Amino acid sequence: MSEKINILLNKQTLTKNDLSYLLSLKNEERDFFLRGVGNKYVETLGKKVFFRGLVEFSNYCTKDCYYCGIRKSNSNAERYEIDDKAIVEAAIFAHENKYGSLVLQAGERSDTAFTERITKLLKEIKSVTKGELGITISLGEQSEETYQEWFDAGAHRYLLRIESSKRDLYYQIHPEDKKHDFETRINCLKTLQKIGYQTGTGVMIGLPFQSYDDLAEDLLFFKSMNVDMVGMGPFIEHTETPLYEHKDALWPIQRRFDVSLNMIAALRLLMPDINIAAATALQAIDPMGREKALRYGANVIMPNITPTANRKDYTLYENKPCTDEGAEDCSNCLGIRVEMAGREIGYNEWGDSKHFFKRQNKKK
Ligand code: 5AD
Ligand code: FES
Repeated sequence: MSEKINILLNKQTLTKNDLSYLLSLKNEERDFFLRGVGNKYVETLGKKVFFRGLVEFSNYCTKDCYYCGIRKSNSNAERYEIDDKAIVEAAIFAHENKYGSLVLQAGERSDTAFTERITKLLKEIKSVTKGELGITISLGEQSEETYQEWFDAGAHRYLLRIESSKRDLYYQIHPEDKKHDFETRINCLKTLQKIGYQTGTGVMIGLPFQSYDDLAEDLLFFKSMNVDMVGMGPFIEHTETPLYEHKDALWPIQRRFDVSLNMIAALRLLMPDINIAAATALQAIDPMGREKALRYGANVIMPNITPTANRKDYTLYENKPCTDEGAEDCSNCLGIRVEMAGREIGYNEWGDSKHFFKRQNKKK
């Protein structure tokens, strides 16, 4: 059996069937596969992993995704907004602690007051960190003008998960309306790439109605879109959301976790030079979840540096880890955790996706 895995570990072009098979592995065979990828990727990409300080600055959201705890219709969500001063302070914290990069994330809004505020904020963060701090943003679907304005203001990476690349499944987890349009989302990803952002996407793993084949297709979608970064993690049902009614049909939580690691490892084989994040949702299931992801293919970790008072309210899913710790605690414990995973931290480095530069060079 491990003969077959050995062949796949060294195969040039993995097919949907190959990927589906790898995603479904269990027990000893799965261990063999994960270790195989872990060893191979350290040889090619090295041991370095990069930090992105994550600030979840607001949970006001205009959208209504069926899986998400901060969806507009969840009237039980305690809404918060962190002011610009506190966001800039968090950016300075990231800079001083040699994180290299910052991720700004919030619920989705596209009104002018919001977009202008972000532009101003990006400029200010660039200025107070002397242009040294890399900035990734994750602020959903926006117009081309807005994406361009934010790029010009200093953001250079953008995360926009496709959530599922299978159109039918996309509409099983989102309302089927203009605000949640599958094609718009794909077009947004293309626009981001056209503008020159390093572009990241991702999916949730273990959604209701999702199969190994669907997940294999997701991996091939990342490849065909030629993305630079991927963040993906297990789906964790939230009691206050419509998808909760399917809780009994889900894979057991441990299986969702295991398949998430299989996805990361399989993606590392498929796209050896992209950045792959160890999603926080992994840690909600297993206290060492993100470190395991680092062993088997992930090379980016996003310590949460949201000011503590508001952290508990950014509950996309329940059981979110580290919601009651200060940012300092997190950075200290993370250094040790990364070392335990046999990796090194790229302090003060932007840790840009190598894939992005290869893509740019090809274009020239
Ligand atoms: N479980 C896991 N991940 C979730 N996200 C939102 N809700 C959930 C959930 N219930 C993820 C989505 C989104 C990202 C910010 O968080 O993939 O893009
Ligand atoms: Fe906010 Fe999906 S619920 S973007």
